[in-house]
Amino acid sequence: MEYICSKCGKKESVFTHKPCCDCGGLWNLDFRPPKFRLEEIDRNQWSLFRYRSYMGLTDDSWKGISMGEGVTPIISLDDKVMLKMDYFMPTLSYKDRGAAVLISHCRAIGVKNVVQDSSGNAGNSVAAYAARAGIKCEIFVPEGTSPKKIDMIRAHGAVCTVVPGNRDHCADVCRDRVFSEGAYYANHVYNPFFYEGTKTYIYEVYEQLHRIPSHLVIPVGNGTLFLGTVLALEHLLDSGIISRMPVILAVQSEYCDPLFQAAESGARSPVPVTCKPTLAEGIAIGKPMRGTQILEYVRKYDIRFIHAPENEILNARIQLAKKGIYCEHTTAANYAAYENYCRQNGVPEDCLITMCGAGLKSDH
Ligand SMILES: Cc1ncc(COP(=O)(O)O)c(C=O)c1O
Ligand SMILES: [Zn+2]
Repeated sequence: MEYICSKCGKKESVFTHKPCCDCGGLWNLDFRPPKFRLEEIDRNQWSLFRYRSYMGLTDDSWKGISMGEGVTPIISLDDKVMLKMDYFMPTLSYKDRGAAVLISHCRAIGVKNVVQDSSGNAGNSVAAYAARAGIKCEIFVPEGTSPKKIDMIRAHGAVCTVVPGNRDHCADVCRDRVFSEGAYYANHVYNPFFYEGTKTYIYEVYEQLHRIPSHLVIPVGNGTLFLGTVLALEHLLDSGIISRMPVILAVQSEYCDPLFQAAESGARSPVPVTCKPTLAEGIAIGKPMRGTQILEYVRKYDIRFIHAPENEILNARIQLAKKGIYCEHTTAANYAAYENYCRQNGVPEDCLITMCGAGLKSDH
């Protein structure tokens, strides 16, 4: 298993501490899992590592690091909509899927300290798993990040640096640190091991339902759940487990929609946008670093970008809470976008929406 540069095709050992290729291209993982079979799932392992036969793992470091992440229930909201309760996680968001694998890899290759930038949830996850692995950690978050997310990062013993300006600027400040000081960039967008974790979202759905619903609602800021989802669906397709890709309804905030606009206009890279502040802080990404890759998939499969209308996010959150589901605003945006889609296109018969962040984490 090696890294392969997404730009120039150069290969590199996964033991490297370099955040990306010398040409600036991001790494992909050169890893082809064996054909997917339900019988290969380790049913005695109550975490996402039950799918480890299909995940690119460096060694067994995950055994000391896993906190039982994944294996989240699917519940029905009504007769056409199911919710995957991905906020039932050690740090209350789906980012634990990726962080558990990424930090296991860091442990495997002897990383001593990591840095990461985040809108909050990925930082929470990386801080928690780094603490568990005994790795020093610094997280950069943009100003305005929900205070509870910052408190949680600090509770895990990580340094949390609040950077004035927006989310994209925060990433630039963190990357300066990576490139000038050589800190290991435990970043959910750059590091392909994160996607080995988010792939398990789909493996779980298949194990639980014995099918993949016809429509999947997935939020897309940098697209870490989206990319893991597509990789795993391609794997199921190659394995002959599913015969066609489902429709992916990819959610962007109407206030920050570089990929929505690119998909509309047929552009091959994200459209430069000026993001306005949005309640959906988790998807407020103006410059998605894997945007070109995401748009390649948009041309290949039935992927439809949909807007989360800003003035409907709070109401969506209230509607879900009235049915017992208390999710964070970025997650309520998924539901608001789904309703927006239904108004324009009719109600899909068989739809799964991710509930990817817990309500107690966002204060607005
Ligand atoms: C709850 C929640 N949903 C969705 C996202 C979007 O993830 P990504 O930027 O990887 O697409 C985030 C990112 O922080 C998040 O915290
Ligand atoms: Zn390269």
